[in-house]
Amino acid sequence: MPSKFLEDAQVLGNERFAPDLWSLTLYAPRIAEAIAPGQFVSLALGDSARLLRRPLSVFQSDAAEGTIELLYQVVGEGTGLMASWQEDEIRSLLGPLGNTWPIAEGVQTALLVGGGIGTAPLALLALELRKRGVVVTMLQAAQTAERLVARGFFEDTVAAWICATDDGSAGTQGLITTPLAELLDREDFDVAYICGPEVMQTAVAALCAQHALRCYVSLERRMACGIGACAGCVVTTTQGLKGVCAAGPIFDAKEVCWDDNIASRVH
Ligand code: FES
Repeated sequence: MPSKFLEDAQVLGNERFAPDLWSLTLYAPRIAEAIAPGQFVSLALGDSARLLRRPLSVFQSDAAEGTIELLYQVVGEGTGLMASWQEDEIRSLLGPLGNTWPIAEGVQTALLVGGGIGTAPLALLALELRKRGVVVTMLQAAQTAERLVARGFFEDTVAAWICATDDGSAGTQGLITTPLAELLDREDFDVAYICGPEVMQTAVAALCAQHALRCYVSLERRMACGIGACAGCVVTTTQGLKGVCAAGPIFDAKEVCWDDNIASRVH
């Protein structure tokens, strides 16, 4: 059985849920059945001026229905084009791609930290952890309350949910590191999983390291081939340069050379 598939995916829904944030639901049964938490897909835009596929993390998948849901932010012409897609259009989808969130045997408590649209890849992980009986605490950050991606889903899925927003419209006003530092001072966790803007990931990984908490991060890079063939998505690690699409997107935070990557990051 192949590990990845190229599928003609049918658009089932494409809806805006915040001013520039959208949810795209696709019928892609082979990929929906194969996808694992943390993996991503690569989507063709179907436009001759934009031949590069777009890597997108998977927010939800439903093997029984054959569907996957992707969340995206409209930031340029490519994602603007995606926002115009209508029901029943067919788009070429490649996946599943990349590695998965590692869950060690015996893990009983987990901390999830998500920021912005980058919170999406934590959803399937939260479900998997709950299925395994792991007690999950989640911290979520966004600019405003309405930009707390899938807030209702995460509040319903995890045991404890805490948020911070830039404008104070929900939770603590300011950076997520403030409630995180307080939490780590009073509670122990077996493992942490982080996804979101790299500046946030850097600060959160540093706090986890101070508390000797094992921590995994999902990194984002612009991608060309998406399958490890072009070296277009490298990050600096303690073992040298690694491609996010082939070696990642998930890395042990202690292997990432954060200073080098922040300096060269493209998002
Ligand atoms: Fe080509 Fe990662 S995008 S190696």
